[in-house]
Amino acid sequence: MMLFHRGQKDVIPEKRFGEVLYEGDIIMDGMCAAKNLIRNHALTENEYVTLLESASDQEVKNLLKEEAVRLRKQYYGDKVYTRGLIEFTNYCKNNCYYCGIRAGNRNAVRYRLTKEEIMDCCKEGYRLGFHTFVLQGGEDPYYTDEIMVDLIRSIKAEFPDCALTLSIGEKSYDSYRLFREAGADRYLLRHETANETHYRSLHPAAMSLAVRKQCLYDLKTLGYQVGAGFMVGSPGQTLEHMAEDLVFLQELQPQMVGIGPFIPHHDTVFAEEKAGSVDLTLYLLSVIRIMLPKVLLPATTALGTMDPQGREKGLKAGANVVMPNLSPVKNRKQYELYDNKICTGEEAAQCRGCLAGRVSRAGYRLVTDRGDAV
Ligand code: SAM
Ligand code: FES
Repeated sequence: MMLFHRGQKDVIPEKRFGEVLYEGDIIMDGMCAAKNLIRNHALTENEYVTLLESASDQEVKNLLKEEAVRLRKQYYGDKVYTRGLIEFTNYCKNNCYYCGIRAGNRNAVRYRLTKEEIMDCCKEGYRLGFHTFVLQGGEDPYYTDEIMVDLIRSIKAEFPDCALTLSIGEKSYDSYRLFREAGADRYLLRHETANETHYRSLHPAAMSLAVRKQCLYDLKTLGYQVGAGFMVGSPGQTLEHMAEDLVFLQELQPQMVGIGPFIPHHDTVFAEEKAGSVDLTLYLLSVIRIMLPKVLLPATTALGTMDPQGREKGLKAGANVVMPNLSPVKNRKQYELYDNKICTGEEAAQCRGCLAGRVSRAGYRLVTDRGDAV
């Protein structure tokens, strides 16, 4: 057996990549890692780093994209599911350094939707054919468990054929249990980064990666369909961090994964930081589709903000969900997580119409099914 040391890759004959052992590892190039991912739907952390290093290799990119599209077609045909997003509060007790609605942003104009306003958003959504509503907001203590349970029960009673997704941050096991018993079906909670040091650099000391991860495991235990995820290109993020994110997703096996480029917000600590890359986000969408073939994977608003064709490109890279905005137009601009956020001026019907067009131009079909994980 031939042994090589790290850094010696360039002197190893090409045909030996993937075969030669060194320090207990298989030496691989990106193509070899891509083929392994396609074969096994899983890689080691080092192999993910190798794969991410090849993100600009056209051959590797094409291979992953083709396989991602093949898998999404195998499980979902040409269907793209739609979720009506209701951003019901921009109050937040947290101070995530990247986020435009963080508690410390004194310039944010705050709002909360009343129960009637939220029910009206659902009614309008239902009229437009939505069968999933996503209630998203900052961590706003105003909405006590009692208020949330009443809201969840009311939505599920009035729209029994619809799925209800919550995205309201970290709660206790008991709160998650109450929401689940009231009828909530799904929960979105991006882990943001699976690396402890990187997590510390994005959040104040009061927040913890261990708690965030525990929340995700609690949600799974309670039978929610769970969504984790992370921003691509958040300040200080390295390829190694992203490899850790992928390994974490591989372990958690969530039904949904939300990824989108980081985009700076002018009133945050990271105002002067560079935005994340659209190309790398697309590459990761393909990787995640192959890793979790049945995953529900949105082409996000952040992707559409960074590139006018971003969501179409996302669908063509393996995404199968879009999330048009159902929030009242008067509040849209106030839910400003990052600068230049798109879709803040249109009525819900326009938003849905616009996305239906984008989906069909990408070669897919926007459907009204609940769109549960298969
Ligand atoms: N409070 C809930 C939570 O913590 O999950 C949901 C709302 S939070 C604003 C939703 C997501 O927005 C976060 O998980 C984060 O990944 C994303 N986000 C926040 N600031 C962003 C930024 N500057 N660029 C891109 N995405 C951002
Ligand atoms: Fe709470 Fe962004 S800091 S939603």
